[in-house]
Amino acid sequence: MALSRRSFLSRVGQAGGYSAAFLAMQGLGLMEMRAEAPAEVAAAPGSGKGVKVVVLGAGIAGLVAAYELRILGYDVTVLEARERPGGRNWSVRGGDTVKFMDGSTQRCTWDAGHYQNFGPARLPSIHPTILGYCRKLGVELQVEVNMTRSAHLQNDNANGGKPAVMRQVVNDTRGHVSELLSKSLRQGALDADLSADDKTRMMDFLRMYGPLDEAGKYGGSDRAGYAKTAGAGDDTGVLSTPIDMHTLLDESFWQGMLFDEQFDMQATMFQPVGGMDRIPYAFAKSLGTIVQYGSPVAEIRKTGKGVRIGYTQSGVTKSLDADYCICAMPLTILKNTPSDISAPYKKIFEQTTYANAYKVAWESRRFWEQDDNIYGGLEFVNVGCSPIWFPSAGLFSERGVLVSGYSDENDNEWFAKLDQQGKFAESRKSIERLHPGRGKELEKPMIVEWGKVAYNEGSWLRSFAPREKAPGVALTRQTGQARNPAAARTETDPAYEQLIQPDGPIIFAGDHCSHVVAWQEGAALSALYAVNQLAEKVKMARLTEAMGNVLG
Ligand code: ALA
Repeated sequence: MALSRRSFLSRVGQAGGYSAAFLAMQGLGLMEMRAEAPAEVAAAPGSGKGVKVVVLGAGIAGLVAAYELRILGYDVTVLEARERPGGRNWSVRGGDTVKFMDGSTQRCTWDAGHYQNFGPARLPSIHPTILGYCRKLGVELQVEVNMTRSAHLQNDNANGGKPAVMRQVVNDTRGHVSELLSKSLRQGALDADLSADDKTRMMDFLRMYGPLDEAGKYGGSDRAGYAKTAGAGDDTGVLSTPIDMHTLLDESFWQGMLFDEQFDMQATMFQPVGGMDRIPYAFAKSLGTIVQYGSPVAEIRKTGKGVRIGYTQSGVTKSLDADYCICAMPLTILKNTPSDISAPYKKIFEQTTYANAYKVAWESRRFWEQDDNIYGGLEFVNVGCSPIWFPSAGLFSERGVLVSGYSDENDNEWFAKLDQQGKFAESRKSIERLHPGRGKELEKPMIVEWGKVAYNEGSWLRSFAPREKAPGVALTRQTGQARNPAAARTETDPAYEQLIQPDGPIIFAGDHCSHVVAWQEGAALSALYAVNQLAEKVKMARLTEAMGNVLG
């Protein structure tokens, strides 16, 4: 049976997670591999003349859609509920206010120049579409250090609760595994699997890889670091004593160690200079009055000719008619928006579960740099708030803003149940575990819990299934676990297949309409996909009209 490209890709995705689907797409030439080349719109500039489109939501998907539609000549309006562009792409600075739907308010008092990206905070080099827009829009990027070998790992059940340093964990693990493999080879356990030549080559490799001594033993190495570093004169330094295999096998150690092996967590990562929101503000600057702020959508209607969107602006009820609508609102919000959207889509909105990610951020002296030689990167603890995420901007300055705790509250009910002071106390404890004595240096805490943020009510799509049927599938990435294909939302889920089909004049967009969920790349790709669908519809409508005219 011949397979369509789409079903082929879906099956690849099913078998191997979205990484596999992505690679297959690259292999089929459906996705550019070069970082500087974003995915493209197929329609010709000017082909949208005379057609009116309303885009709902000025998050990354809505902004990309509007940007491309304008190039094609469409008459575009973006309705955005907030007074700022970006949606989840939100950088908080001193002077900003964070409000939750429960009425609680936090005022940020961080020093000038400090910020926290409470939404997206990294741009992998394998995300060419969003990086391509940064290049086009002149958004200056700098390296985001996702992992450093100087980072600490801590587990209450291992090493007497004492933190270990990543370089030692990584290299001692490698050494022990190499020693075991070498032993098996020497004992002939793998003779059936390796030729004599390959066995010799493998032994040579392990001696280097471990590194192992002539007897095949791992006795530590300078890769794992020093208990006392070398100096001048006769100060030769003292190598650290290897951590034993039992300790290293403790789950949380190897999970943290593998974090940046994940496809979309590998170096090189980037971030905009000055805050992630430089991206939406660059789009917004380019789009000008096309984006209408402070305009929450009240209803979405189909008119037979197109759509009519009811919304409010400065308390005044308004409506806007358009031929088509690109709807880039979160499904959590669509669920409660009165609309003529067809029943199968509404069922999806009802059943879908979103993650409720949170981040806690603090201002502090850069003790991680000044005391521990840690510059950027993540650290992990096995209980409490994890991971810790150090800033990549402002290196070597006196103070900075770090994250202590970034996870899904769905998976951490113990945390979700605490009051705000309790959450801050837990977050501080994690720093104390990893950097004893430093917890007290943390000041001016801020927390964003996306489940409590109006116009989002969740951080990203966790599953198309209701929560009770989708346990524990989100944020495995946060603990650094290698991707479990069943956890990535890549299956040919009928709900997904439905959602990416236009509902008459309404076309859905957002990272939830892509296989790159929880990334700006997914939002941008879905916007391009939606624009292409829209352009195709316009082409067909024009063709039908022309044929009607010819046939009289
Ligand atoms: N893309 C999100 C992150 O980088 C989930 O943490």
